[in-house]
Amino acid sequence: MSNHNPSRENFGSKIGALLAAAGSAVGLGNIWRFPILTGQNGGAAFILIYVGCVLLMGIPIMMSEFLIGRHTRANAAGAYRTLAPGTRWNWVGRLAVLSGFVILSYYSVVAGWTAEYTAMALGNCFDGKTTTDFPAMFANFVSNPWRNLFWTISFMLITHVIVVRGVKSGIEKFSKVMMPALFIILVVLAACAITLPGSSKGIEFLLKPDFSKITGSVVLSAMGQAFFSLSLGLGCLCTYASYFRDDTNIGKTALNVSLIDSFVAIMSGFIIFPAVFNAGYAISSNDIGPSLLFITMPNVLEQSFGNIPILAYGVSVLFYFLLVVAALTSTISLHEVVTAYVSEEFRMSRRKAATFVTIACSLVGIVCALSFGPLDGIKIFGMSIFDLFDYVSSNIFLPVGGMLVSIFTGWYLDKKLVHDELTNRGTLRAPYLRLVIFILRYFAPIAIATILLNQLGLFRFF
Ligand code: PHE
Repeated sequence: MSNHNPSRENFGSKIGALLAAAGSAVGLGNIWRFPILTGQNGGAAFILIYVGCVLLMGIPIMMSEFLIGRHTRANAAGAYRTLAPGTRWNWVGRLAVLSGFVILSYYSVVAGWTAEYTAMALGNCFDGKTTTDFPAMFANFVSNPWRNLFWTISFMLITHVIVVRGVKSGIEKFSKVMMPALFIILVVLAACAITLPGSSKGIEFLLKPDFSKITGSVVLSAMGQAFFSLSLGLGCLCTYASYFRDDTNIGKTALNVSLIDSFVAIMSGFIIFPAVFNAGYAISSNDIGPSLLFITMPNVLEQSFGNIPILAYGVSVLFYFLLVVAALTSTISLHEVVTAYVSEEFRMSRRKAATFVTIACSLVGIVCALSFGPLDGIKIFGMSIFDLFDYVSSNIFLPVGGMLVSIFTGWYLDKKLVHDELTNRGTLRAPYLRLVIFILRYFAPIAIATILLNQLGLFRFF
């Protein structure tokens, strides 16, 4: 079915491939953005729309990334070159690699913070602290260049060590241990949170459907969240799929990755809101992003469980460790996109390529990390360097990448190739094939173009 290159590694098992792809999808986006967006935008009504976006856009685009990767068995840029030699489509692959590079550079900064907070939780630093202490604690930390740099680079090095070990004994082995650990921690923490006395208000905030809150821009933010959360629109899933075995069922894997990702997002809500409401904390729009994880959460965990210190200690350590694992499986996938590209396109060994990527991303990561301290005066379009990277990659690169992947598979690729990949050369049934093609041709590109134009303020639909 595919162009085999004997020197290329594959995942050793289907479950390993599934867990690695799920590891890329499950990340900080699930834990810090999804619950807040849900709580503020109509609870179960928002979840319904989010799930609609995942089903109608996320899964078909994920299938295209998978089939492009597995068919070509090449890095993201090589994949487009193989399928559309000498055309402008090659830029889609290059954009994917560039997005991976940019996201890895700033994502490692926040990932580093999760490691710092795990270390603080382990050192019992939250014990006895009050609501007013936590904002200062966070501000002190992020503005301290050395601590920030130390953790950004440490996180990059841990990612490096796993990527260098290769697809089977690095990425797959790590995902097979860490993803189950992540699920167990998630369930344990949710169980602790929902047994808190004030938890029912939190669950209500998260789940009570309120359709009056659903506006055009809420639908758009559900779509944007689905994109980022499923790691779509850049080469991660395409690169991972280039290591899928020939008997991996692409449709089923895309469905399972999306189910796992949505499950983790919803469970995170079951951890955060019961704890937040139990502590009598009022959620505001400032709680989206870092401040939820690094100011609100240590505080509410301390307030909620502080009367049993050992429980407060255990819950805080587990919560931050959960974040580290979620972030690490995502940074690995981002690193792999760029490493696979450098190693295959410039014919370097994996070790050399990974070292090059680690050094280059660390240098850019350092600039992002310092934008919270010594470089915080530098503003580009009114944003700090870190915010600019975040904004450009998640609001521009990913949607543009996703739209192009969708058009490429829907319009450019030979239908027989798409059919062969989705059915494993006719050995599987894929009754959804026509629907998927329809979505990729019409629905997804139009929907994404709408989000994009709206988000950039170029055209206001809503
Ligand atoms: N999906 C990851 C998250 O939810 C982020 C990510 C985006 C990772 C794109 C890889 C590629 O945090």
